[in-house]
Parts: sequence; C-alpha cells; structure tokens
Amino acid sequence: MRKKITAGNWKMNNDLAAAKNLASEISSNVPNDSILKIVFPPFPFLSSLKEILNEAGIRTGAQNCSEYEKGAYTGEVSAAMISSCGAEFCLIGHSERRQYFNETNTQLVKKIERCLENNLIPVFCFGEKLEERKSGKHFNVVEEQVCSVLEKFSPGDLKNTILAYEPVWAIGTGETATTAQAQEMHAFIRTLLRKTKGEKFATETSLLYGGSCNANNAAELFACADVDGGLIGGAALKADDFIKIMKSFRS
Ligand code: PGA
Repeated sequence: MRKKITAGNWKMNNDLAAAKNLASEISSNVPNDSILKIVFPPFPFLSSLKEILNEAGIRTGAQNCSEYEKGAYTGEVSAAMISSCGAEFCLIGHSERRQYFNETNTQLVKKIERCLENNLIPVFCFGEKLEERKSGKHFNVVEEQVCSVLEKFSPGDLKNTILAYEPVWAIGTGETATTAQAQEMHAFIRTLLRKTKGEKFATETSLLYGGSCNANNAAELFACADVDGGLIGGAALKADDFIKIMKSFRS
C-alpha cells in the first residue's frame, strides 16, 4: 500500500552516545500519526537505537548491505545480520554508494535479492548528476537506473519496496529540486512503473524525494501529487528539524 513516509539517513555521522541522544530527542517529540517514520543509522548503532526508536513508533533501516549471503568477505555486513538487529529496511543504491564505492546495477540487483530473502524492505535510490540534467538527459538516466535493476524483479517481489528519487546535484548541496522539477520527475517515474510493472504497482508504490529537503521546504515538496515523502540527510541530524519535516504532510 502506498504510504506517506519520512525517512532519515544519518550517513556516517555521530558516535554511539550522540546517536542515542538524537534518537531519544526525536522519539520524545514524534507526532502520533499514520506517517511511516524510518531512521537509517550507521550499522554499529542499529541494535541499541532500535530499542529507543521502536518504542516511539519509528522503524529502523540500514544504509547498505552486502551483495553476498555470508562467509569470508571481511568488512561486509549481510542482510541477515541487519535483519537480526531488528532493522526492517535497507537503502540500496544511494548515490554516495554508486559514486564513491562504484556500486553497479548488477550489484544492486544482488543486494535487493539479499534484502528480499531476509525480509528487509529495500529503499531503492537513484537520480541524475548535474551534468546529466544540464544536458537534458535526466529522464533517460533515471529510466535506465530504475529499469535495469527493477526489470529483474516481479511486481510481487517488489510489492513493499520504496523508491527514492535523489538528484545528485541536490544531495548535501543546499540546492533543492523545485516542486515543479520534483513533481515532473516523480510523475515520469510513476508512468514508467505503470508501463513496466502495471497500474496496481504504480499506484501502490511510495516514491520519496531526497536532496536538501529540510524543515522549510518539505511541506511544499510533500504537497506534490506524486511525492509520497522524503529521504532526509543533513536535516535528519537535527531533532527539531526532522520532527518538523515529519509534520509537513497535508492532513
Ligand atoms: P541531504 O541528503 O538531505 O543532506 O541532501 C539526502 C540523502 O542523501 O539521502
């Protein structure tokens, strides 16, 4: 079912004590409504933050998982491990993973497979770079990113999967897509989903916007017909801002 969602991607920030404080601050002010709220802390904090966040109705996810099931892959973290820490979601294909760790579509397909085998809901991220938008290739790029990974899965496999459009030029830059740009791309993606996966899948899949979404611009972005919420980076590290973003949906 298509849901309204506020998700916070903490990236590689905070130590355990600071992370616990932030989780407690968010938890004690969280609005009691039907919006799905997810926090993606760094791996080592998943277990301890789950206790704090789940009590307040906030669910947890990991920022990445290994493409491998288990075994001699030093430094990797498996989907099964993440799931055993009580996390229910996993970011897949965040642009920072694609860019700095050279993650390929083939790897992303495997990561989604590992998530599905381990009851983790994938939050699949994609988005164009600045030069791609400037040269008018943004729709082609997004179509390629979405289709080359999702074509490997049936609508049934992906029925709970969440998609996140995150234009790379807007991530961490303070530059947000305008509501017109966000809605235009989200409508394009929804049409693409309708063509490739059918009407039911297209209407029921939540499509998040990410990229310098903050307490001041969230309400405008979330009011777009095809924007079902946000994947928030920087502003998710400030409890007050994150709470304000959670409250930015029109009732
Ligand atoms: P940002 O990050 O909100 O800091 O731009 C968003 C993201 O990377 O998910």
